[in-house]
Amino acid sequence: MTSDFFKYQAQTTPHPLAMTISHAEGSYIYDTNQKGYLDFVAGVSACSLGHRHPKVVEAIKNQLDKYLHVMVYGEYIQEPAVELTKLLASHLPKQLEKTYLTNSGTEAIDGALKLARRVTGRSEIIAAHHAYHGNTMGALSVMGFEERKRAFRPLIPDVRFITFNRQEDLSHITTKTAAVILETIQGGAGFIEPKDGYLEKVRAQCDAVGALLILDEIQPGIGRTGKLFGFEHYNCTPDILVTGKGLGGGMPIGAFTSSSEYMDLLQDNPKLGHITTFGGHPVIAAAALATLKEITESHLMSQTLEKEALIRQHLKHHLITEIRGRGLMLAAIMQSADITNEVVLRCKDDGLILFWLLFEPKAIRISPPLTISNDEIIKGCMIITHVLDSISS
Ligand SMILES: Cc1ncc(COP(=O)(O)O)c(C=O)c1O
Repeated sequence: MTSDFFKYQAQTTPHPLAMTISHAEGSYIYDTNQKGYLDFVAGVSACSLGHRHPKVVEAIKNQLDKYLHVMVYGEYIQEPAVELTKLLASHLPKQLEKTYLTNSGTEAIDGALKLARRVTGRSEIIAAHHAYHGNTMGALSVMGFEERKRAFRPLIPDVRFITFNRQEDLSHITTKTAAVILETIQGGAGFIEPKDGYLEKVRAQCDAVGALLILDEIQPGIGRTGKLFGFEHYNCTPDILVTGKGLGGGMPIGAFTSSSEYMDLLQDNPKLGHITTFGGHPVIAAAALATLKEITESHLMSQTLEKEALIRQHLKHHLITEIRGRGLMLAAIMQSADITNEVVLRCKDDGLILFWLLFEPKAIRISPPLTISNDEIIKGCMIITHVLDSISS
């Protein structure tokens, strides 16, 4: 299997972790040697309810017995997608009412960028340095990391970059700007939170010049930071909200949400303003609906902040310089990138899954399922501190 993996399945890094997966349940992933790994990564913030949550599995199985794909996006009335978009709206401010469901986060970002241009009739998009929004050509164009984009240029034109949290840069948002796109909490950059009212100020500048604000909540959204959406912490409502990852409960999804007034523009001039065959797929939507219900009807969101406190309490070591982030979207910053690499690889040997962040080589990602137990958190933190002890001794 391992040799076929390297021979036939395209790789984008020379050193993938390459565990051969047998099965996964709750907070654990098992390899084909039946070794269990405690999962502190959750498929990169995607498996919000852990692995094979019974309610998600049940929703999928029920839908499998009814119908799979029946038609391209938006033509037929399919209950799972309707119920999902309705439930999302019920948890959002009134102006975020209508949702377009996609197959992935990056596709939802592209849809959001298109919508902003369509609404404003302007072309300029402003994004942030070190931002990550996905890897299709649109999302790549607003990624703030030149080294990873250069080989793929030319990308979409009229994109400018500002520095996240730098208020002096807000003057770059002008009447030429269609939209400002930001992650509510920057992920790949190292889990950087907005500070000193930054998002509120971006919101005010967008309002002043008639630009739209797109917030990418693909990672912080759906309960990971202790509220359903990260923007709820910052008194700043976007014009377009983009979600994904954790919404699917382990299934592939993306979504962009805006007002009916704006979203209805995708029907006209040109019509079919955004097309997808599989977006809103009934099985995926059923899984997402079950996930969203569980997260909003249980105590998982409020427990997220207690679990953050537990991690901060148990993850103390002189090789860790800082723990950034909020809720269960945390990055432990090591003294050096070499330490980070060693910890990730040695913890894997010791039965704990950790991972890197895209653009911050000293960071270790800690984004476990929201369902992780306190005992599992303490166990994972002990594995990390033992490895750190052995590195420093
Ligand atoms: C903030 C953010 N935006 C967009 C994406 C892209 O989502 P997807 O990988 O589902 O296309 C990601 C994925 O890591 C992300 O973290």
